[in-house]
Amino acid sequence: MPEDIQNKIQKLRDEIAFHAHRYYVLDDPVISDMEYDRLFQELLDLESEYPELVTPDSPSQRVGGEPLSEFEQVEHTFPMLSLENAFNEEELHDFESRLKRFLRTEQTISFLAEPKLDGLAVELVYENGLFVVGSTRGDGRIGEDITRNLKTIHSIPLRLSGSKNMAAPELLEVRGEAYLTLEGFKTLNENRLAAGESVFANPRNAAAGSLRQLDPKITAQRPLDFFAYGISDTAQIPCSTQKELLQQLDLLGFKINPLTRYCEDIFQVIDHFSYLQEIRHTLPYDIDGMVVKVNSFELQNRLGSKARSPRWAIAAKFSATQVTTILKDVEFQVGRTGAITPVASLEPVNIGGVVVSSSTLHNIGQIQKKGLMKGDRVLIQRAGDVIPEIVKRVEEPEGKRTRIPIRIPENCPVCHHRLILPEKEAVTRCPNPHCPAQRLRLLIHFTSKAGMDIEGLGKKAMEQLYNENIVKDIPDIYGLKSADLVDLDGWAEKSANNAVKAIQESRNTTLARFISALGIRYVGEEVAGLLDEYYEGKFEQLMQTDEDELLEIEGIGPQTAKSIRDYFQDSDVRYMLSRLMDFGFSFASPKKNREESPFAGLVFLFTGTLAAMSRDEAKVRVKELGAKVASQISRKVTHVVAGDKPGSKLNKARELGLEILHEQEFTELLTGKAVNNKKQQLSMF
Ligand code: IVH
Repeated sequence: MPEDIQNKIQKLRDEIAFHAHRYYVLDDPVISDMEYDRLFQELLDLESEYPELVTPDSPSQRVGGEPLSEFEQVEHTFPMLSLENAFNEEELHDFESRLKRFLRTEQTISFLAEPKLDGLAVELVYENGLFVVGSTRGDGRIGEDITRNLKTIHSIPLRLSGSKNMAAPELLEVRGEAYLTLEGFKTLNENRLAAGESVFANPRNAAAGSLRQLDPKITAQRPLDFFAYGISDTAQIPCSTQKELLQQLDLLGFKINPLTRYCEDIFQVIDHFSYLQEIRHTLPYDIDGMVVKVNSFELQNRLGSKARSPRWAIAAKFSATQVTTILKDVEFQVGRTGAITPVASLEPVNIGGVVVSSSTLHNIGQIQKKGLMKGDRVLIQRAGDVIPEIVKRVEEPEGKRTRIPIRIPENCPVCHHRLILPEKEAVTRCPNPHCPAQRLRLLIHFTSKAGMDIEGLGKKAMEQLYNENIVKDIPDIYGLKSADLVDLDGWAEKSANNAVKAIQESRNTTLARFISALGIRYVGEEVAGLLDEYYEGKFEQLMQTDEDELLEIEGIGPQTAKSIRDYFQDSDVRYMLSRLMDFGFSFASPKKNREESPFAGLVFLFTGTLAAMSRDEAKVRVKELGAKVASQISRKVTHVVAGDKPGSKLNKARELGLEILHEQEFTELLTGKAVNNKKQQLSMF
């Protein structure tokens, strides 16, 4: 193969990449579209003549390729977390106070405030500067491989542009938002209408639909774009603040949102928030709020993350969009734990790009409190991804519309058991544990994304299997065979086989996921995670637990402890679980290296105020090193850390003869062990 051809091709590629960056990232082209197209065509011609010279970073790879039959799965090296929300100024101040309390500091904290694009979170993996894998967020841990679709986005570099001062790192996992511009969205929908196809409800759905296309040629025609906002692990690039990181990403060739601001304090954050809220409607893309991040990586690392979201960032959401419509009727639904939720059916109305025809009323008390009747005009609002809700009744001239009182049920609409309203609670319940509605809800929850995440067994499928008497309780799911499904409406051999396979595979799971799936009252993902950690994946131990032991777990209060205990003591539950366990489950403990952790086997209890850090931070630090944290004194506690004004726990600890550390000794122990502990370099996004 002639060497000069190879050189020529390389030169063309460099030239095209340069001009693409000027055009798509900097929005500042230096040649005309026609000249660019000519260069591109020249490259395509040469590559088709010498196909052996095509490389994965050639700009020709942006036009698509053969369709796929399905997406592969990709495990993120660091989970892609989500964010907690703040809905107003006050909640932003609360966020700052929480940070200061956790860090035990009075010093001003500086932030980076970035517009919150309403698109799709994706991760791009670069190895030695070359874009190798791109994936969706998925469930945060595992996403889908959409590399070829992402390659069609011109503002995503196929090769990082290193500079003299900084070569591209060996491994870089960039995170950001893929989105469609409003203009692109409009054109796309017009074309679809013209072609007799259904239209997308909003740019976000259109972006998601485009990226989950199995045929990359179709994706290539959609005007998608990308803003980078972070990396998976701050150790991948040598810098110490979010501001610097974005500057580096910019140098590497990524598009960074120009409305990003460095804020010296929370007041500047709030100013920028008001500013963005004012100008959001003039932007060429949708934003639904602003992401506020602690600027310093040192502080970010100290703050760490909770189960689903980092402590060092928050999404400040714009105030909800509100519209009025007519309340047609109210239906009473029975939840998984028997809670009765009134659901209003509404005259369909478009609210922020989404057509809404029903909304929740939270609980029966709300109907009375808001004085609602059928036929009323009501104000509804939708904030972010939250389910729309009725804010209030809107007064109309007397007699304009017939108002019909809403009949409040005294009995369960499904099993007809008398409903109860426990004292001091807002929620009316059906107390019958055998209520078919509760059972069905539980089954739906069990297989859902929040539960075992069994593909093919979504809400509709579970309703069908329940109504057909095929699945009545959880163990029935694991007894399912293809033959049970294949003849049912809407099923075929392939879908039946896939579902059975997914069911069987779901037995290899984590204890946290399994406990969440069981749907125990007050036990969500976070508590399930605490239980998994404490019992180290041993389900039998958890089943035998008592309230006192549960109360030792930091983060579990009396109400939750009682609920867990009651659940595992219930004879029906025990029978169900023993049938379930016969199918053979295995629970991987998420922290495999526990034995190697320097604090493995230690149980800390903190009492009194520490000077250098808050108790919360101290707890997180010892947990990161593999220790457990107790909230009550018992013989299981190995180290009692006593700060200032330690209270009665210290006396108890002395009575039991436990080891007591003062703050200084504790800090020495920590710093001695914590040096270079990689675990502290928690994931950034
Ligand atoms: S930071 C752990 N920064 O918002 C940090 N997220 O719930 C999480 N998003 O779908 C990501 N703009 O894709 C971050 N400037 C920004 C963002 C941003 C939009 C999305 C993100 C995710 C959601 C977070």
